Amino acid sequence: MGKYAKVIATPNIAVIKYWGKRNEKLMLPTNSSLSFTMDETLKTQTEIQFDAALKEDSLILDGTRLAGKEFEGVAKVLAYVREKYGQTPKAKITSKNHFPTAAGLASSASGYAALAVSINAALKLDLDGSELSIIARLGSGSASRSVYGGFVEWQKGSKQDGSDSIAVQIANENHWPKLRNVIAIVDQEKKKVSSRAGMAETVATSKLFKERLEFMDQRVEKMKKHVLDRDFESFANLAMLDSDNMHACMADTTPRIVYLNDVSRKIMTNVRSLNDKETICGYTFDAGPNAHLYTLEKNVPAIQKMLSKIAGVREILVCKVGNGPRILEKG
Ligand code: DP6
Repeated sequence: MGKYAKVIATPNIAVIKYWGKRNEKLMLPTNSSLSFTMDETLKTQTEIQFDAALKEDSLILDGTRLAGKEFEGVAKVLAYVREKYGQTPKAKITSKNHFPTAAGLASSASGYAALAVSINAALKLDLDGSELSIIARLGSGSASRSVYGGFVEWQKGSKQDGSDSIAVQIANENHWPKLRNVIAIVDQEKKKVSSRAGMAETVATSKLFKERLEFMDQRVEKMKKHVLDRDFESFANLAMLDSDNMHACMADTTPRIVYLNDVSRKIMTNVRSLNDKETICGYTFDAGPNAHLYTLEKNVPAIQKMLSKIAGVREILVCKVGNGPRILEKG
């Protein structure tokens, strides 16, 4: 077939959050972040074919051809690859998200990680993880972390060209085999503010966000230590603190941004009661109301029981830490 690849990539869920850019074009963040890449419970499968017979680049996502704004990220990624690694034929990309329907879980991280890895495999560029993370980042910041499995840091970097704003694997998927993410899919209306627009407004207007940035380097280092020590209690409490702090910055934004709803807040309250005697669970929420409850394998049934009693929790998924993108075919 020539210049072809089929790849699977999975989302990651941050425990120290990325919220804010210092450069919108290059997608450079205001702070470093840390996440676990999830197993294939949720995944994006992408096929790419570069072919001289094609007249233009195209992306079909879940059966629909994307154009205009929705195609911008892919166009940016392809332009970067062509500028850096030489002209290539046009590309036909077909991508499928295996996510529960209307779950409101972000698929951009797995999507752009799959795109970066598939381009590398199809064009036989032999790029390392740092460069793959840069390519994925140009589509969506959080995607930079999904090019690796395990526990991953997206280092904010300091260079203006973004060449040191890369993902680094801190520990692989075998480091903490008992760790689980219990995801509660919560009833919701369509997301009102995209994370891209929301974080730009936070950077521009929130005083609390300026204060957040003062703590982030320290917070990242603490979290790395807790994970490397497999210190669940400290890990879970710091994850909750950082999620709460990010959502407080959203609330401090003008106009105010609110992604959590009453169901999310009920889950938070119940987690606090579950943790009354011993910390068995740490919640984190992205730009939406779904809850990600990090816990240890032995406590999964207690968390599932707690969630199943909450009206408005539509589905419960249990994810392990995953091993990152997988190339299924290339040629
Ligand atoms: C709240 O990566 O979706 O999930 O870079 O603008 O595409 P863009 O934003 P995106 O931001 C997601 C931020 C978050 C927290 C996180 O994953 O760290």
